[in-house]
Amino acid sequence: MSFYEPETVVCNGSLFRLYITKEQLDKRVSELAREISRDYKDKKPIFIGILNGAFIFLADLMRHVSIPCEVDFFKLSSYGDEKVSSGHVTERKDLDADVEGRHIVLIEDIVDTGLSMKYMVDRIREKNPASVTVMTLLHKPDATKHYVNVEYVGFQIPTLFVLGYGMDFAQEGRNLPQIYVIDDEYEKKF
Ligand code: IMP
Repeated sequence: MSFYEPETVVCNGSLFRLYITKEQLDKRVSELAREISRDYKDKKPIFIGILNGAFIFLADLMRHVSIPCEVDFFKLSSYGDEKVSSGHVTERKDLDADVEGRHIVLIEDIVDTGLSMKYMVDRIREKNPASVTVMTLLHKPDATKHYVNVEYVGFQIPTLFVLGYGMDFAQEGRNLPQIYVIDDEYEKKF
């Protein structure tokens, strides 16, 4: 079996370079799953993936979680097809699960300004869960505009635009098994 693992990719006219490898992702995702399995033992958490970006991270995470748990999805959009957030969150799909009295772990691909995650935490709190915590694969702490407490972070990164492992640029690139970062020097040439 072979994976599509180039060193650079061109996505919608922008050049991206390899940033976080498959090996680094596998290692960190299994560490996060071990931590959550330890912290949520006997709590039967519901993992709520925020679509679209979180689907690959959540799928990989779940395979390493060793305690009883459930999964559901919420769909938001805030980026449109741009590289910067539109500043507005649109709800595209609500939950199916009844979260009242349950322990909820919100799962994101990336927390950038914090707008989407803050919206999600407030939205879930309205439904009276027993607890709500946040896990994100990537966090851009310098980009924070809306503070939200992020308990579990895979990798902290600078304020750079990334692609792959579920994350897109104008809907493309989600299928890349590794994470790529935009090459700004290449951008400036055009
Ligand atoms: P926030 O609401 O500004 O925190 O942005 C969160 C959402 O924007 C994430 O769930 C992603 O879908 C998207 N996003 C933020 N940064 C990036 C990036 O660097 N690449 C791709 N998508 C991103």
